[in-house]
Amino acid sequence: MQYSKLCFIFILLTISFKAPFTRSENLSCSSYDLTSLTSFSSFIDNGLDWNTSDSNCCTWIGVTCDNSSVTSKRVVRLELGSRRLKGRISESLAGLDQLRILNLSQNFLYGHLPARLFHLQNLEIIDTSNNDFAGPIPGGSNLSSIRYIDISGNGFIGSVDATLCESSSYIHTINLGNNYFTGEVPANFGRCSSLQQLFLNDNQLSGSFSESLWQLRNLRILHLQHNLVSGPLNDEIGKLSNLVELDISSNRFSGILPDAFERLEKLENFFAGSNNFSGHLPKSLVNSPYIIFLNLNNNTLNGAINLNCSAMVHLTSVDLGSNNFHGPLPDVISSCQRLTHLNLARNNLGGEVPFAFKNLQAQRFLSLSNSSLVNISSALATLQHCRNLTSLILSFNFHDEQMPRNVNFHFRNLRALVIPYCELRGSIPTWLSGSKMLQLLDLSWNRLSGTIPFWLHEFNYLFYMDLSNNSHWRNTSRTGKAQFSVEFSVAYNQLQGDIPAGGQFLTFPPSSFEGNEGLHGRQHTPFQPQQAPHGAQLADEEMTIIGLQFGLGVMSGFLYTVTLCFASGWVFAKTR
Ligand SMILES: *[C@@H]1O[C@H](CO)[C@@H](O)[C@H](O)[C@H]1NC(C)=O
Ligand SMILES: *[C@@H]1O[C@H](CO)[C@@H](O)[C@H](O)[C@H]1NC(C)=O
Ligand SMILES: *[C@@H]1O[C@H](CO)[C@@H](O)[C@H](O)[C@H]1NC(C)=O
Ligand SMILES: *[C@@H]1O[C@H](CO)[C@@H](O)[C@H](O)[C@H]1NC(C)=O
Ligand SMILES: *[C@@H]1O[C@H](CO)[C@@H](O)[C@H](O)[C@H]1NC(C)=O
Ligand SMILES: *[C@@H]1O[C@H](CO)[C@@H](O)[C@H](O)[C@H]1NC(C)=O
Ligand SMILES: *[C@@H]1O[C@H](CO)[C@@H](O)[C@H](O)[C@H]1NC(C)=O
Ligand SMILES: *[C@@H]1O[C@H](CO)[C@@H](O)[C@H](O)[C@H]1NC(C)=O
Ligand SMILES: *[C@@H]1O[C@H](CO)[C@@H](O)[C@H](O)[C@H]1NC(C)=O
Ligand SMILES: *[C@@H]1O[C@H](CO)[C@@H](O)[C@H](O)[C@H]1NC(C)=O
Ligand SMILES: *[C@@H]1O[C@H](CO)[C@@H](O)[C@H](O)[C@H]1NC(C)=O
Ligand SMILES: *[C@@H]1O[C@H](CO)[C@@H](O)[C@H](O)[C@H]1NC(C)=O
Repeated sequence: MQYSKLCFIFILLTISFKAPFTRSENLSCSSYDLTSLTSFSSFIDNGLDWNTSDSNCCTWIGVTCDNSSVTSKRVVRLELGSRRLKGRISESLAGLDQLRILNLSQNFLYGHLPARLFHLQNLEIIDTSNNDFAGPIPGGSNLSSIRYIDISGNGFIGSVDATLCESSSYIHTINLGNNYFTGEVPANFGRCSSLQQLFLNDNQLSGSFSESLWQLRNLRILHLQHNLVSGPLNDEIGKLSNLVELDISSNRFSGILPDAFERLEKLENFFAGSNNFSGHLPKSLVNSPYIIFLNLNNNTLNGAINLNCSAMVHLTSVDLGSNNFHGPLPDVISSCQRLTHLNLARNNLGGEVPFAFKNLQAQRFLSLSNSSLVNISSALATLQHCRNLTSLILSFNFHDEQMPRNVNFHFRNLRALVIPYCELRGSIPTWLSGSKMLQLLDLSWNRLSGTIPFWLHEFNYLFYMDLSNNSHWRNTSRTGKAQFSVEFSVAYNQLQGDIPAGGQFLTFPPSSFEGNEGLHGRQHTPFQPQQAPHGAQLADEEMTIIGLQFGLGVMSGFLYTVTLCFASGWVFAKTR
């Protein structure tokens, strides 16, 4: 088309001759924005290193302008994250009417957020997370361009408000986590149909699982953990077929788990620990080929642990500890070839560790504490074949058995061996001398006796050892955990980050190992709320387009032509 050609030639010309027309770079910021920011800065007590005597606010730290005008530049980004800012947010900030990105996260800002901020029509990203803001979210907001809101980690109160969604059909992330929100998740959340990530965790939300949430068909991540939500989780969850991660742990859910997991074809992470779920594991769950991390710790689930590893091909981490599951320990688990973490502690399993467990070659963390297991000899004989095993927790089992001694077990990669409270007889076994990577050893509350072998002194990484409350140690002045702590204190620093089950591992007392913490799985989660939002990138792309428009627009005589080119749709058709 002639017209398109004309536009094309025009743009080519403009771009080729762009160099001489760089006046826009030297323009100062608009007086409106200067006033807004100056007023904003007067409420910030410290942390803001702005040279307010320089009237071009576009040069101030954290301020970005665009080239939107022939006469002055407008502030489009205010990015002041992690700058130790202290103070309140002035109402004047809402005067930045071209603002697209507002990032005040990780500071010491307090007070209310100005209501007018929630009426900025160009705002795409708000991040005020991790400050000391308080009060309710201003109601009646109208943010027609908003894509991403993160106000987590503050002291906000009142009900969670979904009017945030009502004005924008682009919004993909809302993070209201770690505040003091109360009440039920309101019905109007159903209108947030574009939402992909919703974080409501660590508040005091109550009521049942809001039906409005079933309408969020684009949802990929839903975090509701650490609230007071009660009632059942019903089959409707299957409607959220895009869910990748669902965390409803530490609430008051009850009833049976829904048999709807075959519809959740993207669900990789399901965390529902510390609720009051009962009944059996649903068939669709134990046959899910999608699940990677499964945590149902600390519920009242029962029946058999009938995970079908032929179907659950991606299963990596399973925590079914502290439930009422009945044994025997299922040897089918041994065909879960990718399993690295398994916690079945505090169930009524009974019997021996199945010989087939030797096939758990990926296994790194195994806790079978307080499961009424018998025969420690066969357990260790089997588990020594799990070559990647670094943490083995077997407390409260093998009542009154003999610690196997004259055998040649190999636990070369073991970092933590925790077998207290078993009333084991015998002595510290010589086969342990091969476990030179050992960092933590707990054999307390047994009936072991004899000497504390010299080779334990040569374990360079050992920093915690508890042999307290055993029968009698010979040739040693004292018993107890403090015994080696001088000798081993040097090693402590080396161990940081070297611990098998993640950094948190260090902070747990060994007594907690029969429980859940070592198997939390959260640190493996592929999606984090802190993840860079997609909006940021989209915003950049759009700014490029607009930047081009304005870059050309500087040549005032041709402004009309350019406008026509854009209006014709030709430029957009080409750039999209
Ligand atoms: C614009 O600023 C640059 C340096 O920032 C300078 O070299 C140039 O001369 C200025 N142009 C005008 C027209 O003021
Ligand atoms: C602040 O800006 C003024 C005006 O541009 C300039 O004269 C002064 O040197 C600047 N001060 C600092 C510390 O940069
Ligand atoms: C403004 O224009 C300059 C020069 O043309 C360009 O480098 C800069 O990226 C533009 N800024 C924005 C925010 O579009
Ligand atoms: C805001 O800034 C913080 C710290 O500078 C950064 O970690 C975070 O990713 C930013 N938020 C967004 C939404 O980009
Ligand atoms: C939001 O503001 C825009 C622009 O001012 C207006 O057109 C729209 O009607 C408002 N929406 C609501 C829900 O108030
Ligand atoms: C187990 O869940 C109950 C609530 O169901 C909670 O009070 C308790 O703290 C949880 N225990 C652990 C170890 O998480
Ligand atoms: C858990 O659910 C059972 C019924 O399945 C009920 O009897 C029990 O009271 C509930 N416990 C709590 C703490 O809500
Ligand atoms: C286990 O999964 C396999 C593969 O999906 C399937 O063929 C088999 O029927 C399942 N077994 C049970 C008991 O559901
Ligand atoms: C062991 O498990 C039983 C129930 O299976 C429980 O009552 C008991 O408190 C547990 N003991 C420890 C120390 O965890
Ligand atoms: C065992 O651990 C090593 C090193 O971390 C790893 O490369 C290997 O793939 C693991 N084996 C299995 C079967 O996962
Ligand atoms: C323990 O298991 C071994 C085989 O691993 C067997 O020889 C032994 O008899 C078992 N001990 C008891 C008390 O069942
Ligand atoms: C030592 O362990 C026994 C059980 O093996 C227990 O009865 C006793 O109270 C423990 N003693 C101390 C001092 O903790």
